[in-house]
Amino acid sequence: MTPIQTIGVIGAGTMGNGIAQTFAVAGFPVVMQDLSQPALDRARATIAGSLDRLVKKDRLTADAAAAALDRINATSTLDAMADRDLVIEAIVERLDVKTSVIKQLDAICRADAILASNTSSISLTQLAAASAHPGRVVGMHFFNPVPVMQLVEIIRALQTDDAVAMAVTEATRAIGKTPRVSKDSYGFIVNRLLAPLINEAINCVSEGLATPEDIDSMMKLGANHPMGPLALGDLIGLDVVLNIMETLYHGFDDPKYRPSPLLKQMVAAGYLGRKSGKGFADYPA
Ligand code: CAA
Ligand code: NAD
Repeated sequence: MTPIQTIGVIGAGTMGNGIAQTFAVAGFPVVMQDLSQPALDRARATIAGSLDRLVKKDRLTADAAAAALDRINATSTLDAMADRDLVIEAIVERLDVKTSVIKQLDAICRADAILASNTSSISLTQLAAASAHPGRVVGMHFFNPVPVMQLVEIIRALQTDDAVAMAVTEATRAIGKTPRVSKDSYGFIVNRLLAPLINEAINCVSEGLATPEDIDSMMKLGANHPMGPLALGDLIGLDVVLNIMETLYHGFDDPKYRPSPLLKQMVAAGYLGRKSGKGFADYPA
C-alpha cells in the first residue's frame, strides 16, 4: 500500500478542525469539507487561535504556524476528496448520515483511498458494510481537544484489510500521536468506560446529591481527573454524549447503559455544553 500523503477531513466542527490542524502541523496537505460555510469559517478561526496558542508557548514558530494554516484548503464540495489518500469523516454521530457519506465517497474517491471514521461509538462493521470496498473502512478515533490528546484508537471492522489498519497506524505515528488498536464493539474501549461515568454524574445531579460544581470538584480532588465529568460532558458536547449512550444502550441491549433522563432533557433544550454556550456551566461567547 502506498504511504498516506494527502488528507481529507469531512466535518469542520469540534473534532474535524482539530484533526485538520494536527495533520497540517505535521506537514500533510489537508482538504477540510463541511456542508456549512459558517462552520468552515469558524473552523479556520479556531485553528488560527489554536496555532497562535502553540506559538505563544514556543511549541511552534510563527512561520510553521502560517505554513500549517496554508496547508488547509477549506471547501463545501465533497468532490474535493477525489485525489485524497486518506479521508477521515468527523460529521454528526448518526449511522444513517455517516453511511450516506461513505456511499458518496465510494463514487468520488480512488478505489485505493482509505475511508476512516472518527465515530465515538457506532459499529465500524456496520459503517464498512455501507461501502462497496468494505476492506478500506477503518476507525480512527481521536480525542478532544485533538491538538492536545495523545491517543488515537484504531478500530478494525470485521472487514478491515490488514494493510489499511497498518497504514492508519503509521499515519497516526507520523502526526506524533499514539495508536492503540481495538476490535470493533459499541463505544470501543475509552467511551465504553468514559460515557457511563459522565452519564452517572448527570444522574447524581438529577438526584440532587450535590451541585454540578461539587461533583466535578470531587472527581478532580478524589480521583485526580484533570476535569470533572460534567465539565468533560460540556467539552465533548452533551448531544455527542447522548448519542454514545444510546448506541451503548441499544447496541448491547443492556439497561445498565440507559441514558440519564436529565441528559435527554438538556439536549432537547439545546443545552449542549461549550458549543452552545450553556451546559452544566455557562460559556459566554
Ligand atoms: N490547541 C493547542 N493546545 C491546547 C489546546 C488547543 N485547542 N487546548 C489546550 N491546549 C494546551 C495548552 O496550551 C496547555 O499546554 P501546556 O500544558 O503545554 O502549557 C495544555 O493544553 C493544557 O491547557 P490549559 O492549561 O489551558 O488547561 P488545562 O490544564 O485545564 O487542560 C485539558 C485542559 C487539556 C482539556 C484538560 O483539562 C484535560 O485533559 N481534560 C480531559 C480531556 C479529555 O478527557 N478528553 C477526552 C474526551 S472523550 C473524547 O474525546 C472521545 C469521544 O468520542 C467523546
Ligand atoms: P460537531 O457538531 O462539532 O461538528 C460536526 C460538523 O459536521 C458540523 O460542522 C456540521 O456542519 C458537519 N456536518 C454534518 N453533516 C455533514 C455532512 N453530511 N457533510 C459534511 N459536513 C457535515 O461534532 P463533533 O463533536 O466534531 O463530532 C463529530 C464526530 O466526531 C462525531 O461522530 C462524534 O461522535 C465524534 N467525536 C466527537 C468527540 C467530541 O469530544 N466532541 C470526540 C471524539 C469523536
